[in-house]
Amino acid sequence: MKVIITENYDEMSKKAAEIIIDIVKNNPKAILGLATGSSPIGMYKNLAKAYESGEVSFKEVSSVNLDEYVGLTADHNQSYAYFMRDNLFNHIDIDLKNTNLPSGSAADTQAECDRYNALLETKKQDVQVLGLGSNGHIGFNEPNTPFGSVTQLVDLTESTIKDNSRLFSSIDEVPRQALSMGIKNIMNAKSILMVVSGKNKAEAVRGMVKGEITTALPASVLQLHPFVTIICDKDAASLL
Ligand code: GLP
Repeated sequence: MKVIITENYDEMSKKAAEIIIDIVKNNPKAILGLATGSSPIGMYKNLAKAYESGEVSFKEVSSVNLDEYVGLTADHNQSYAYFMRDNLFNHIDIDLKNTNLPSGSAADTQAECDRYNALLETKKQDVQVLGLGSNGHIGFNEPNTPFGSVTQLVDLTESTIKDNSRLFSSIDEVPRQALSMGIKNIMNAKSILMVVSGKNKAEAVRGMVKGEITTALPASVLQLHPFVTIICDKDAASLL
């Protein structure tokens, strides 16, 4: 596990974008595993800037996203499909046909999970971007999710619902369930790039990097992956 500690969020975002840009320059057909949340927004801004300046093209890149809320359609402004268009896809030359997320509005959720798992078999991520939940979740794999899990319907914990309620007009509007890539799908990526910032993540960062490998802290599984880079700001790294 390589841990890079930065001065602040901006430096974290810049460094993370540099890693993605290198991957895409080396392999223009790279498969990017992408994440939502506040953590990668700055990185996405830097990727858009690099595209605008002609430094990199995403024309042949494809993407697979980690997760989606159940019950929100792709045009709902809190859906992760909307987030990805708004924060990244609308600002680069990626072909939207090559972008993939689980659908939160599928009538048959099990069929949708099966579809997504089959897709992931054919699209092994060259890099999987991750944020970190304050309770140590990755994707929406909440504490006690088995490490062998694949894409499935998950119940969100109260702490995640509370954390994510800042983006909704009231906590009652936060969906209680999501479809999430499983831990096995994440660990299957060739490399993993995590971005973490803020004091509220410090405890989870410590457990992830230095604690025992346990399903009680899902991100601790990353200690078992051979190519993980964690970029965290000083606040998130304050307990290391
Ligand atoms: C959400 C997402 C995760 C994300 C995490 C942290 O619940 N499902 O993929 O990494 O929470 O979010 P943030 O970066 O906003 O703190």
